Amino acid sequence: MRYIEFGNTGKRVSVIALGCMRMASLDVLKAEAVVKASLESGINFFDHADIYGAGKSEELFAQVLKRNPSLRDRIFIQSKCAIRSGLYDFSKRHILASVDGILRRLGVDHIDCLLLHRPDALMDLDEVSSAFSELKTSGKVCSFGVSNMNRFQMELLGCAIENNSSVIITANQLQLSLVHTPMIDEMFNVNTKFDGAIVRSSGTLEYCRMKDIIVQCWSPLQKGFFQGVFLGDPEYGKLNDVLNSLAEEYKVGPDAVAYAWLLRYPARMQVIVGTMSPDRIESASHAADFDLTREQWYELYRAAGNSLP
Ligand SMILES: NC(=O)c1ccc[n+]([C@@H]2O[C@H](COP(=O)([O-])OP(=O)(O)OC[C@H]3O[C@@H](n4cnc5c(N)ncnc54)[C@H](OP(=O)(O)O)[C@@H]3O)[C@@H](O)[C@H]2O)c1
Repeated sequence: MRYIEFGNTGKRVSVIALGCMRMASLDVLKAEAVVKASLESGINFFDHADIYGAGKSEELFAQVLKRNPSLRDRIFIQSKCAIRSGLYDFSKRHILASVDGILRRLGVDHIDCLLLHRPDALMDLDEVSSAFSELKTSGKVCSFGVSNMNRFQMELLGCAIENNSSVIITANQLQLSLVHTPMIDEMFNVNTKFDGAIVRSSGTLEYCRMKDIIVQCWSPLQKGFFQGVFLGDPEYGKLNDVLNSLAEEYKVGPDAVAYAWLLRYPARMQVIVGTMSPDRIESASHAADFDLTREQWYELYRAAGNSLP
């Protein structure tokens, strides 16, 4: 496993992280097995959101922590807020109330990072800044980040909190996988008339690199928006052939190659894996054991159905 510094928290986090969105479907013993498999594989980072399983994922995680009291100090817990039924809400009142709910459900006195889950068009910058300040001062949240935001939205938020030296945007969690690459297509197709030139993220990955913001890739194996995994899917035959051949070369699973493709991008990367299978968690951890070559990285991009201009 490889570890990176997480902003100014003084903590080092694993580049493979466990996403707990699907934990709500487990019982406590299975959830405990998932957490233990993660730790045994070197994964110390757990990603939650207040909406996962309508709060049940956080509650289950709390039961695992209760059964293993020494665990809290060894792990990094991140959660998210701001998605409400039918709207997104960055109001100070909602952010503060959400964090209280997160802490109550997780049964902890602080979380290591809070992300704003999806951009709120009506965000009031002073309210967000003030909410972050209060959460930091009270010790309820150690660091902050965003999710699904583009470069300009991060800049906008950054302007509001730039005088607040104790608060910085540490991470942006974005959908990125071998079969979901609009942010990368944009890089190759600048000023062409190909569809890849359509600007969907406004240089978000480049901005994260420039500002040392960690890119957290969500749904690293999913087709579309939760439509099943591309591994083993005949629709992605060429991609699977290349993944399997590289898996053989590096003596890992094809899943690890797909994650390694994300880790090879030269920003500060984390992959948020969503499997709830202890064996697949162990397999995922090997993505950090090797680096794909430039040729292999491009070959995978092309095998996923992309062409270069
Ligand atoms: N910020 C956001 O807006 C946002 C949105 C979505 C998700 N997320 C975060 O990202 C995390 C990961 O998302 P995700 O769960 O969609 O990611 P994923 O890792 O792409 O998908 C996980 C799903 O794929 C299955 N799977 C994994 N490996 C497989 C394999 N080799 N063969 C067949 N099935 C396989 C898993 O089943 P098994 O459990 O049986 O292995 C699980 O159902 C979430 O937990 C959440 O923390 C964030």
